[in-house]
Amino acid sequence: MKAAVHDAYGGPEVLRLDDLPVPEPKPGEIRIRVMATTVNRTDCGFRAATPFITRAFTGLTRPKFRVLGNEVAGIVDKLGDGVTGFQVGQAVVGMTGDPGGGQAEYLCMKAKGAVGPKPRGLSFIEAVTLLDGPMLARAYVRAIAPARGMAVLVNGASGSIGLNAVQWLRHLAPKGEGMVLDAVCKTGTVDLLHDLGAERVYDYKREDFTATDARYDVIFDAVGRSRYRYCRPLLKDGGTYMSTELGPGCENPLLALRSAAFGGRKKIRFPLPGANRKVLDEITALAEAGALRPMIDRVLPLEEIVAATEYVESEEKVGTVVILPNPLDEDAGREV
Ligand SMILES: NC(=O)c1ccc[n+]([C@@H]2O[C@H](COP(=O)([O-])OP(=O)(O)OC[C@H]3O[C@@H](n4cnc5c(N)ncnc54)[C@H](OP(=O)(O)O)[C@@H]3O)[C@@H](O)[C@H]2O)c1
Repeated sequence: MKAAVHDAYGGPEVLRLDDLPVPEPKPGEIRIRVMATTVNRTDCGFRAATPFITRAFTGLTRPKFRVLGNEVAGIVDKLGDGVTGFQVGQAVVGMTGDPGGGQAEYLCMKAKGAVGPKPRGLSFIEAVTLLDGPMLARAYVRAIAPARGMAVLVNGASGSIGLNAVQWLRHLAPKGEGMVLDAVCKTGTVDLLHDLGAERVYDYKREDFTATDARYDVIFDAVGRSRYRYCRPLLKDGGTYMSTELGPGCENPLLALRSAAFGGRKKIRFPLPGANRKVLDEITALAEAGALRPMIDRVLPLEEIVAATEYVESEEKVGTVVILPNPLDEDAGREV
């Protein structure tokens, strides 16, 4: 089968197409014919081995896991012994867990892992955009616990995590019902963020949101481009700062530990996301209800993996860069 592999850490150019044996499902596994996968920031981090500490997991000197891609939508192609709850021909979505395996024509996953039915009414391409971003956003949305009277600011709101966090927060606390939701993004995505329910949108290309007079109960930095020390003055007493990034010198988890141990007028939290079937089903229900909108930036064949990865690293994308390991019509799978 065709797969995008890498045998060394480095830039996007270390990726290349190779011919690998089609994997056989072990007991308890299903084999998926991958109709759509993605290139996301996690793939880029593992491929480049940044931060360096990821090598403890992916291999010290060279990658142990040759194939990236941790989000998949596809068709169950073969069942391993003992698998129940899935059928050959069923349309599914899955989060493979790090470090991936999805950028290939076939992939095996544990049937009891984060894999389940594809959301009804969504194509494979649409469905694959609602996996990693919502899964990560969910951890922060739960920590925020949106409520009437709160004021929340999402920095990096036009990234995969940020877009899903804004939509999920607005689903739980609809506009006009007493929760302020502001966002930070660049010029081109201000209108989109308004459309998704953000109120005040700071364009970081034109203004520094940390200079605002507004005060917030929660500041969620979905891209890790700010720091607690800059956001702290914007937090109300009892307010909370969260970031998706470790920060310089791992300051964010360390500050969160200190905050949990010693308290203080302002809190720092570092929620840890988790992918499992329960989380997936929750996301699928939101996707089917239209509460999370598929955001597709572009769709490319697996052969374009290097260009797709370069594009993701250019930080120009809005939404998901989808990769097709097998030929597919854009609408295919919607009715499966
Ligand atoms: N904690 C975890 O478990 C975990 C897991 C995966 C990823 N992450 C981290 O989470 C971050 C976001 O991931 P993602 O998948 O959402 O990334 P993404 O889809 O690539 O989005 C990144 C976004 O950051 C925005 N951005 C860039 N510079 C900015 C700035 N100075 N101020 C505000 N926004 C800025 C860009 O928006 P514009 O288009 O508006 O410039 C871009 O859309 C990444 O840094 C990743 O390493 C954390």
